Amino acid sequence: MIRKFKKSDLWEIIRIEKKAFPKSPYNRFIFLHYASAYPDNFLVYVEDEGTQLNKIVGYIIFYPEGHIVSIAVHPAYRRRGIGTELVAVVLKRTKGKASVEVRDSNEVAKEFYTHLGFSLRTIIPEYYGDEDALVMVRTGTN
Ligand SMILES: CC(C)(COP(=O)(O)OP(=O)(O)OC[C@H]1O[C@@H](n2cnc3c(N)ncnc32)[C@H](O)[C@@H]1OP(=O)(O)O)[C@@H](O)C(=O)NCCC(=O)NCCS
Repeated sequence: MIRKFKKSDLWEIIRIEKKAFPKSPYNRFIFLHYASAYPDNFLVYVEDEGTQLNKIVGYIIFYPEGHIVSIAVHPAYRRRGIGTELVAVVLKRTKGKASVEVRDSNEVAKEFYTHLGFSLRTIIPEYYGDEDALVMVRTGTN
């Protein structure tokens, strides 16, 4: 199930973050900032909610208008539709509109967003310092 982030999720989120973005993981201050500034827009995917496991396996942070700040799924839980479900919450709130910056080298993310109906809008040179960002945008009402 998908629910809002709670402070007690923090360490599990950081564990996922380090696996997902080993070069530049967000730290706890960044996550706590988003949790405080956008409490409705920092969501976690919980596997086996209600059982003893209760494991966080993914998260998404987005701005209210649909800009995705970050999304990650634990490597052991990928290709099961969890990322799609997380983005679907955003799209439901924004009538299908969303945008995101993606590292040029992140082929998986490019495939993922293309699969979800995003397309390349522009490129921001050296957005990540060492790398360009692709700005991918989804328009439409579905
Ligand atoms: C990108 C990410 C969130 C996708 O999460 P996920 O739960 O595995 O995605 P889904 O299972 O919903 O995949 C949906 C579709 O995206 C595409 N896709 C996802 N992973 C892919 C991969 N490794 N290779 C090719 N296509 C892929 C496929 O079209 C897939 O549909 P299919 O499985 O029916 O073929 C996950 O790979 C991740 O956490 N990556 C590291 C962090 C990251 O790069 N985040 C994005 C930064 S902008």
